[in-house]
Amino acid sequence: MLKAVIMAGGNGTRLWPKSQPDLPKQFIPILDGQSMLQKTVSRLASFLSYRDIYVVTVDKYVSYVKEQTDLPDENIIVEPDSKDTAACIGLTAIRFLHHDQDPVLITLPSDHYIDGDDAFRDALLTAYHQAAKVPCVVTVGIKPNRPETAYGYIKVEEVFDDNVMPVEKFTEKPDLSTALRWIKVPHFYWNSGIFVWRASVIRELIEQHMPRLSEGLRKIQAGIGKPEEKSILKQEYMKLNKMSIDYGVIEKASCIYLVPGSFVWDDMGNWTSLERLIEKDRNGNVVIGEHKLLNTHNCIVYSEKVFIGAIGIEDLIITVTDQAVLICRKDKEQEIKKLM
Ligand code: GDD
Ligand code: MG
Repeated sequence: MLKAVIMAGGNGTRLWPKSQPDLPKQFIPILDGQSMLQKTVSRLASFLSYRDIYVVTVDKYVSYVKEQTDLPDENIIVEPDSKDTAACIGLTAIRFLHHDQDPVLITLPSDHYIDGDDAFRDALLTAYHQAAKVPCVVTVGIKPNRPETAYGYIKVEEVFDDNVMPVEKFTEKPDLSTALRWIKVPHFYWNSGIFVWRASVIRELIEQHMPRLSEGLRKIQAGIGKPEEKSILKQEYMKLNKMSIDYGVIEKASCIYLVPGSFVWDDMGNWTSLERLIEKDRNGNVVIGEHKLLNTHNCIVYSEKVFIGAIGIEDLIITVTDQAVLICRKDKEQEIKKLM
């Protein structure tokens, strides 16, 4: 049994002001008519039925998921608050285990740009066969081409480009000097954030490495089906610390495999990611919307409604939405989170 669980509860702060806490990036059509959530669902629907596609999200975003997808209501798993990815993956696992089901789950982000649906499906099916066979976590890795510090890095024991590889070490978000070293070594891959594993493996790993979350999940599971189910969920969630699955579990897990993904992949996590996805003008600018730039170089200019005129500037991000204007040096982009 294979099921997919799309994580769609993050708030996407680094794409502010386009992405706002009340409408985060996964629900916004940034590049064309469909949101990244909608694209993720249709990519999965090419090899899974809607019945087997789930979304886990936070209460305040449920209406977007309902508006944007045709998934059955019971496939929307609702968190009372955003506690990062370890909690949402754990909550999903106990939903199945409670009903004596132990499916292989593809847990995957909703904020990715992917080109190459066939290669995506092939990688996931290879990962599924491995995860069905061994009680381990199977990651989907991408060949790095720049020293990105916003990703996890996975070192495999041996490189077999078209096959399942045992993992030696997983490191979440290394610093720049480390990333610069690692991208030169063929044994390193980026973590795409897509994990394939059985619900029981998730539960077991959380129990081993995140005892406080594990205890909360035990109480939440005991409440399933009872009249006080919702209040127990809320009460236990409020006690949890925010922690991502990468730091909380994957960095510590001892049995990890990697399947290489040969599709084009990007985490549309910040404004400069648009530079990798959209063709630049001859002065190196990425321009979205109809704008006029004179003597302007290497800028990102984004506005759907308001006309932007720019003269003699370089290396800036300028974005205008109905709510706000952002003007930011490209090398300070990671600080947009602070601004919020
Ligand atoms: N339901 C739910 N609840 N979803 C969440 C929550 C939450 O509390 N927090 C984050 N998410 C969702 C986001 O919407 C996104 O789709 C996904 O989980 C991953 O979260 P991010 O916050 O975007 O993680 P990241 O990009 O910093 O890092 C992860 O992804 C990278 C690749 O994109 C890590 O797995 C890295 O190792 C990886 O390289
Ligand atoms: Mg992300």
